[in-house]
Amino acid sequence: MSSSKTPTARVDKLLSSMGYGSRAEVGRLARAGGVELDGRDLTDVSQRIPVTPDLPTRMLVDGEPLDPVAGLVVLLNKPLGMTCSRKEDGALVYDVLPDRWRARDPAISTIGRLDKQTTGLLLLTDDGDLLHRVISPRRHVAKVYRATLARPLSGTEGALFASGELMLEGEDKPLSPAMLEVVSPTEALLTVTEGRYHQVRRMFAAVGNHVETLHRERLGGLVLPDDLAPGQWRLMTADEIAAIFE
Ligand code: URA
Repeated sequence: MSSSKTPTARVDKLLSSMGYGSRAEVGRLARAGGVELDGRDLTDVSQRIPVTPDLPTRMLVDGEPLDPVAGLVVLLNKPLGMTCSRKEDGALVYDVLPDRWRARDPAISTIGRLDKQTTGLLLLTDDGDLLHRVISPRRHVAKVYRATLARPLSGTEGALFASGELMLEGEDKPLSPAMLEVVSPTEALLTVTEGRYHQVRRMFAAVGNHVETLHRERLGGLVLPDDLAPGQWRLMTADEIAAIFE
């Protein structure tokens, strides 16, 4: 027997947790006719409503469809120079999202990180379970990076990366096997299943090379779409999320 029940929430609490303002502000907005549900003004924000995924198609706030409810997953083509960490200088990847999303609770975080100088596929979510499933070392979700290199490959890198014996400087556990596909003497695709700090750059540094550009193209079965320009993002569908684990 299934025990799953649609969760309900007070309207003011829900909208406030989605970044639409304090509960008092949401109340004022609703009383002024700024919240509609199923085509009718919703003025009593103390009422509880079912929080279903279709709510954004049924609720308007200030004349706009409600933002996605909890469980949102954003696919961003991270541009060069943006950071994933508030501890670093520079524009944050979160800055590309709507301002009010900063106040969402649960908060939105990146699923893993890309360096400031790395571009490409980056996911952000407020779904902690999904985040842990993607980054869990036990799941071995493959990440594919395209690297351009300062020096031509020697030809020995692929075997070393695949050996499971490469030890990065300052670490005491060798890297899991990674797969190198040579595209040209100074360009390669590298598939890794771990997410160690600056991993790809340090792997090439370990073989006397230097990564000049680094771009993540794929995460599990999810490929960065060609039509998503750097800096652009969109919400992911359930099928796309499932593709990560295929
Ligand atoms: N490896 C790196 O060195 N940098 C990244 O951003 C991702 C993987």
